[in-house]
Amino acid sequence: MSERSSSVQRAEALERVARGWDAAAEGYDGYFVPRFAPWVALAVDGVGEVPGGPILVPCCGTFPELKLLLERFPGREIAGIDLSAGMVRIARERAARSPMVEVIQGDASTLDPRWTAGCAGVVSVFGLQQLPEPEDAVQSWFGALRPGGRLSVVYWPAVTEEDGPFALLSRLLPGRSVPDWEAGLVPRLSALGATIERDEQAAFPMSHADAAGFFDAFAQSGPLRAAAIARGDEFIADLRMRFLQQAPGGEWTHHPRARLIVARR
Ligand SMILES: C[S@@+](CC[C@H](N)C(=O)[O-])C[C@H]1O[C@@H](n2cnc3c(N)ncnc32)[C@H](O)[C@@H]1O
Repeated sequence: MSERSSSVQRAEALERVARGWDAAAEGYDGYFVPRFAPWVALAVDGVGEVPGGPILVPCCGTFPELKLLLERFPGREIAGIDLSAGMVRIARERAARSPMVEVIQGDASTLDPRWTAGCAGVVSVFGLQQLPEPEDAVQSWFGALRPGGRLSVVYWPAVTEEDGPFALLSRLLPGRSVPDWEAGLVPRLSALGATIERDEQAAFPMSHADAAGFFDAFAQSGPLRAAAIARGDEFIADLRMRFLQQAPGGEWTHHPRARLIVARR
């Protein structure tokens, strides 16, 4: 493939992801942000004690990390970066009363050189697994740190649970396989001289009123929204029917595992 056509394809893929999150943003903030709160707290805690300097939040979405960061790092420069205009709009509302906070719309895979080696912390939650080249992204994020700074990243691995709604959806969506990049993250960071302070799985309980409530939130206000736009109502209706056929009745509580990596420069 020519260099031009691969960069056009990459731009189109990013555009699809952005459109999906634009449409999902409000619903995501209402449904998933409260359910994901324990992982957000874990990632912010991972930053720990760091030298002075800005804190970056790639893939900030509606910016649920912000409140905890402001409590922990009052008066610091904090910047959220997200691809989706819909997410950025809500994130800017959340940041409106904090003059030291900016929200930048753009691709967070490669950070602007102005951040290189100047930041105290980079914290990112549930964005890494959506990026086209996650190993390159962690390299760029680590490169933003000054000595003593920390990268704290939480992402959804390919396998998050053995049963539960995430596992059921993975079984129903063909062609999903365990990507190799996951195994390459820590070696890539270590090769850059990082001290890996934590690399662990973190499971917390998450409850849904019922299987239909979960599916509809995931398809309208979650990561499936981009596929719903690209593949249409019929695809989603068929997937929903098959999901509900195999799902348990009543309230559904599960304990998905995310991966936390904390790396110090
Ligand atoms: C599941 S949300 C997580 C948002 C937030 N960190 C949280 O924990 O709620 C994933 C976010 O990643 C953003 N995203 C996906 N690809 C991106 C990219 N290449 N650059 C910047 N943001 C991206 C999406 O727009 C979305 O807001």
